[in-house]
Amino acid sequence: MKKTLEYLLAKKQSHQKIVALTCYDYPTAVLEEQAGVDVIFVGDSVGTNVLGYESETEVTMDDIAHHLKAVRRGASQCYILADLPYASYETPEQALSNAQRLVSCGADIIKFEGARADIVTHLVEHGIDVCAHLGLQPQTQQQKAFQGKSFTQAKDILQDALTLENAGIKVLLLELVPEELGKLITESVKVPTIGIGAGRFTDGQVLIVNDILGITPRKLKLAKRYLDYQTSTLQAIAQYKEEVEQQSFPAEENVRHMVEDELQQLIDWTQSNYFSRD
Ligand code: KIV
Repeated sequence: MKKTLEYLLAKKQSHQKIVALTCYDYPTAVLEEQAGVDVIFVGDSVGTNVLGYESETEVTMDDIAHHLKAVRRGASQCYILADLPYASYETPEQALSNAQRLVSCGADIIKFEGARADIVTHLVEHGIDVCAHLGLQPQTQQQKAFQGKSFTQAKDILQDALTLENAGIKVLLLELVPEELGKLITESVKVPTIGIGAGRFTDGQVLIVNDILGITPRKLKLAKRYLDYQTSTLQAIAQYKEEVEQQSFPAEENVRHMVEDELQQLIDWTQSNYFSRD
């Protein structure tokens, strides 16, 4: 069954957690859907996690569209959220045409950073579902520091959340805020909240898939590693290299043979055509 906004809202209302995870490619999308992930984020985290970029600001619309299409091919039933990358939503009009492009590539909802109620209103008026992104905003805050620790900062984030909800957002992402603020905002808005480093009480949790699989070497306090992909992959590749060099791969079970009669014809033909010429 296709996961929808109504499904996410019902989860919030019945206090069941929404499970979200980033994804950037087809095979991982197939597995995330099989595992029962509700929301897949095709975020601009693709830049530093997959494309080898230095920062999120290098990610382009073409990058997001390319990875989004692959993820949608692998996960037809998940609710897919796509990011508008850096500098792709300078005006409401620019935001709309880029959001429409991502919807045509398979996104169910579009996320962008900051408290831009004008852009939310414009997109909503044109039938686009919007997720706001508050707390740490990596596109403009290079230093990955917790946000909303003081009363004034926390109040500003809470007020932004309420303003954006009034403007029509359907989901709210909270990144790197204290647990108390994550809880307060979650209780103050009707839309589902999804947190990354925002404590235990948001309606859902999202993590970067590369962090939970151990693809990235970093170990973040906010994340948990469920697999040591780096070690297993390195071992597998090193073993393959060794077996090729030692000629133990390919082995008899990896090869196919010609039937004897066909092989004999080929040998005879080769000899009469190439080796008997003077
Ligand atoms: O870019 C991204 O993947 C995100 C994460 C914070 C979930 O927005």
